[in-house]
Amino acid sequence: MTARSRSIVSRQTGPHQDLARRVARALEHPLRKPLAAHTREAFSGARDWLERRGGAPLILDAGCGVGLSTRRLAEQAPDAAVIGVDRSADRLSRDHGRLPDNALLVRADLVDFWRLALAEGWRPVRHYLLYPNPYPKAAHLKMRWQGHPVLPVILALGGRLELRSNWRLYVEEFALAVTQATGVAAEAQPLVPGEACLTPFEQKYHASGQALWRLVVELPHAPGLVPGGALPAAGEDA
Ligand SMILES: C[S@@+](CC[C@H](N)C(=O)[O-])C[C@H]1O[C@@H](n2cnc3c(N)ncnc32)[C@H](O)[C@@H]1O
Repeated sequence: MTARSRSIVSRQTGPHQDLARRVARALEHPLRKPLAAHTREAFSGARDWLERRGGAPLILDAGCGVGLSTRRLAEQAPDAAVIGVDRSADRLSRDHGRLPDNALLVRADLVDFWRLALAEGWRPVRHYLLYPNPYPKAAHLKMRWQGHPVLPVILALGGRLELRSNWRLYVEEFALAVTQATGVAAEAQPLVPGEACLTPFEQKYHASGQALWRLVVELPHAPGLVPGGALPAAGEDA
């Protein structure tokens, strides 16, 4: 990975005008997408692993890429169980040495993994969304987590939710969505990583002189936010 990285280019100059409508829709309409069998299997492995950690507080690293942040978070919190989830087998397979015993990397689709986690009653104490894909085209709002139908599930899991991005607007939109959905105040703040970058993308953007942004919010565990419950109704499964 080189140290040069281009800033996000988008025709959007402010929060997407359709954001509030999409959030309202996610709060009203159940997400019916069937659960993929491979993510069910991956989740069941993660659940077994977590059970063996004997009630250790859970930290989720959602979209962990190569898993460096998962490793670092596990090293910083040896009493916690840290689960990194990413759908890219290629990224997850890059060898960065032995993982700490309290860390697990899982290949899964987050949209399904989050729903299974909520249905299982997981309550992460910390939940990281580190440099999610920005999808800067306005037409792709629904692919950003704040415009995605899975948003209520992300928020319902609760805990200390931290989003980081090199695109300020992404964090600002996410803040608006958090407040609309939960009533909890949230705002984008500048992030100066100092010497220790948490992820390779953070390292790359920082080394390229880009400004970094983050949002940190404490959320209650609130399964009632999710219309129709966390999982698709019987008969809608894959
Ligand atoms: C821009 S990368 C950031 C990776 C890492 N957090 C970092 O900062 O270095 C975004 C990551 O999110 C993952 N991702 C995007 N959508 C996903 C989904 N629905 N389920 C699982 N992983 C997803 C991608 O595979 C990719 O590794």
